[in-house]
This record gives sequence, structure tokens and C-alpha cells, in this order.
Amino acid sequence: MKTLIKNGLVVNATGTGMADVLIDGETIAAVLAPGSTLLGYDLEANVDTVIDATGKYVIPGGIDAHTHMEMPFGGTFASDTFETGTRAAAWGGTTSIVDFVVQYPGDNPVERYNAWQAKAAGNCAIDYGFHQILSDVQDESLVAMDELIDEGVTSFKMFMAYKGVFLSDDGQIVKAMQKGASNGALMMMHAENGSVIDLLVAQAIAAGNTSPYNHGLTRPWQAEEEATHRAIMLANLTGAPLYVVHVSAKQAVDQIAVARDNGQNVFGETCPQYLYLSLEDNLGASSEEWGDFEGAKWVCSTPLRSRGEGHQHHMWQALRTNDIQMVSTDHCPFCMKGQKDMGLTDFSKIPNGIGSVEHRMDLMYQGVVDGHISLSRWVELTSTTPARMFGFYGKKGVIQPGADGDVVVYDPNGHTSIGVGKTHHMNMDYSAWEGYEIDGHVDTVISRGKVIVDDNQYIGTKGDGKYFKRGLSQYLI
Ligand code: URP
Ligand code: ZN
Ligand code: ZN
Ligand code: ZN
Repeated sequence: MKTLIKNGLVVNATGTGMADVLIDGETIAAVLAPGSTLLGYDLEANVDTVIDATGKYVIPGGIDAHTHMEMPFGGTFASDTFETGTRAAAWGGTTSIVDFVVQYPGDNPVERYNAWQAKAAGNCAIDYGFHQILSDVQDESLVAMDELIDEGVTSFKMFMAYKGVFLSDDGQIVKAMQKGASNGALMMMHAENGSVIDLLVAQAIAAGNTSPYNHGLTRPWQAEEEATHRAIMLANLTGAPLYVVHVSAKQAVDQIAVARDNGQNVFGETCPQYLYLSLEDNLGASSEEWGDFEGAKWVCSTPLRSRGEGHQHHMWQALRTNDIQMVSTDHCPFCMKGQKDMGLTDFSKIPNGIGSVEHRMDLMYQGVVDGHISLSRWVELTSTTPARMFGFYGKKGVIQPGADGDVVVYDPNGHTSIGVGKTHHMNMDYSAWEGYEIDGHVDTVISRGKVIVDDNQYIGTKGDGKYFKRGLSQYLI
């Protein structure tokens, strides 16, 4: 199967240029001057499919390096399975995810990794890799870190919050970081001070402040800044590289910026929700159907920040200056009915998470339209850096000969209306992005040479997506 994508503007992280892209089998074979032949060979007459990308962008498929398909969490499971979640991702121009294997205290990480492989196998629409969550750090966890690197799991997430569920104490974190410093693993951190949050939550509930808005008030930016600083210092102590996930507070951004200016291998990720949504507009929302429980739709951690404090503006700026290096979704969807509503009378019982895997490419493209980021930066934040950060750049994250044929044709003159009953294909009974309008459109999605989405139709097959092993991070200073 040979496909020629002609007359498009190819957008890589390093720049843009008019070019034709030839995909042969699963791989990009050539990037050519528009209309050119290969040594006189008539390309158009000799390929199976010609896609006319005139007036459109040809970009490397999106890479969402932070998803939680069917994650057991908060007394339930994230509502997207590997099947439904990866299909929704494909619809939105994302051709790879890196999901999290969960290890609860007492579990053996390698056994959990095998269980996650079994869950995903044969179900995914797009390619996938795994990070490993570490909760308690047993001796066998340290051995597992070496074994998992051989399996292509080269990054490990730890939590400074969620006591009794995921939380690791500082000693456990240092132990795992020491291992990471020696075997090259990238250590990922959920940086929020869990003890402080647990106290504030208990006080709020005791005072009768039970609505979702209080989720934001009880996870203040100080708890994020403090934990981010602590994680950076523990990484500094051990020499491990550190990647801070779902950064939302501007003060946490500044901690990361200072560490980077000091030459430390510290990186930060943010998510669309921290760029567009807020404590007041979303966690504080009310509706006829749900009253002030409407805000449960946006309960996630770290929480949405106050509009008045300027976090969102600061975050866009950090994306321009590379104080924050990439954008993932932290896709962790739950339905309002039967899941989020477990917290109707107590916000701390609302399962934490937002679903966005389908909309990240569009929401970030809107950042280009709105003048926040450049076209190349859009690709860098959503595809190229995720691949470099997590050790699979060259194979993915770039349009160049030899890379996987993961390509999206994006139409800047198209339009996308987001919401339930519109572009929404995630397994959720609401959309956290209801009513968002995007000045662009995902036209064609190609995964390893196969067209899986075309003209608003999913035409792939369950199981098209394959596991990819990752190497060590290619982003270290
Ligand atoms: O609210 C969130 N972020 N849920 C997913 C789990 C995590 O902490 O990433
Ligand atoms: Zn987290
Ligand atoms: Zn997460
Ligand atoms: Zn279109």
C-alpha cells in the first residue's frame, strides 16, 4: 500500500515547507518537492491512494503521553476502555498514546504491567506505549524498574498526594529516584502536598462545604508549588531527571523554570484544561440539571486554577518560552451519572479526572489561531517533544523518511464544534468542552500507513494499534 499526500504544507517542529509525502507500507518513504518525481518515476500513477492536501497542513500524528484508559480509580473505572478511548483519540488526530500501568501498594509492578498489556492487546485503534506508576517502593519495585526498561517502559510516575492510594513518602521517592539516576529512567511526579490537601478537605467537609467548587479551594496553588519544589530538590539530590505532570499553577511553572535555568533535567507538562478552564467558570458552575454539582464535570487534580490569578495566561507564555515543554490531556473520563455523582454530597468522593483525548490537537490548534503559539510550536508541543521526552522520536513525532507513517491532514479552513452529539466520541455522558468552537478540522488520519479516519468517518479496525517499546528519554540536557 502506497499513499501520496500532495501539495500540503508539511509542518514539523523545526519549520514548515510545501512538500509531497510518500508513505510506503507503514513508513514514510520520501518527503519531496511538490509535484516532483523520484528519478523520473511517476509517483501519482504508481501509488494506491493520492490525498490532495492543497491548502492544508500535513503534520506528524498527535502523541498524547498522559492517558488513563479504563483506570481503576476513585472506587470506579475511567469510562473509556482502550478500545473507545483510542478510537476517540484517532478521531481527534492523535495516533499514539502513552498510558499508565497502575501499581497499588503491595502489587508487583511487572505483574501489573503484564495485566495492562493484556487489557490493551487487540483493542487499540492507534499505537500505544506505557509508563509505570509506582506507589509503595518495595525492593522488588527497584528490580522491576530495570526489567520494565527492557520492556520499553522507561518512565515511572509517583504521587505526592492520594494517601493510602498512590502516595509515596519522600524516602520512597528518593529510593526510586536513586534507581532512576542509575538506570536512566525518567521520573514523573504528581506534585501536590497530599497531607495539606487531606487536612483542608476534612475541614471543608466538616464545615459543610461539600460542593465541587471546594475541590479547587482545598488544593491550593501553594500545595502544588511546595510539592513541585520538593520534587525538584529530591531529583537534584539524586541526579534523576524529573518530569512534572499536569502542571496548573503559575508558581509551579516558575519552580520548573528556575530549576531548568540552573541546568537541572526538569521538565513540565500541562493540559488543555489548565489553559482554557478555571475555578470560577467551571468548578463553580451550576446548571438546571445538577445545581452547583455541575462543577463535578471538571473535578481533576491538579485542580483548575482561579481566573483572577493569571495562571492560564502564564501557562500559554510558558509554552512559548519552553518553561513548559509539552501538552498532554491526562485523559481520565468519568460519567456524571453513576460515577461523578458518587460525590453528590461530598466533593472528595467525586472521581478525579477530565476526558479530552479527542480534542487536544484541536484545542491546541486554536492556540495557533488565537496567536498564543506558532504552527511549528503546535506540532512540537503535541507530537515532537512527547516523542523525544519519552524515547521514541524518529520513529514518531516527525515527518521524515524512515518515520512511521503516522500523519494527519489538518484543514485550517475547516471548523470543529465540540460537544456531546457533535465531535464527541469518548465514552462519557457529557463533554468538559461542550460548546467549544475550533477554527480548524482534522480531515484525514493515517496510522502506520493506513487511513483510519477520513471525512469524519472512522474506517480503521479494532486492533490496528500496536504496542511500541520506548528507549530512554532523548530530551535530557
Ligand atoms: O484528576 C486526575 N488527574 N486524574 C487522573 C490521575 C492523575 O493524577 O493523573
Ligand atoms: Zn496525577
Ligand atoms: Zn494522570
Ligand atoms: Zn475538513
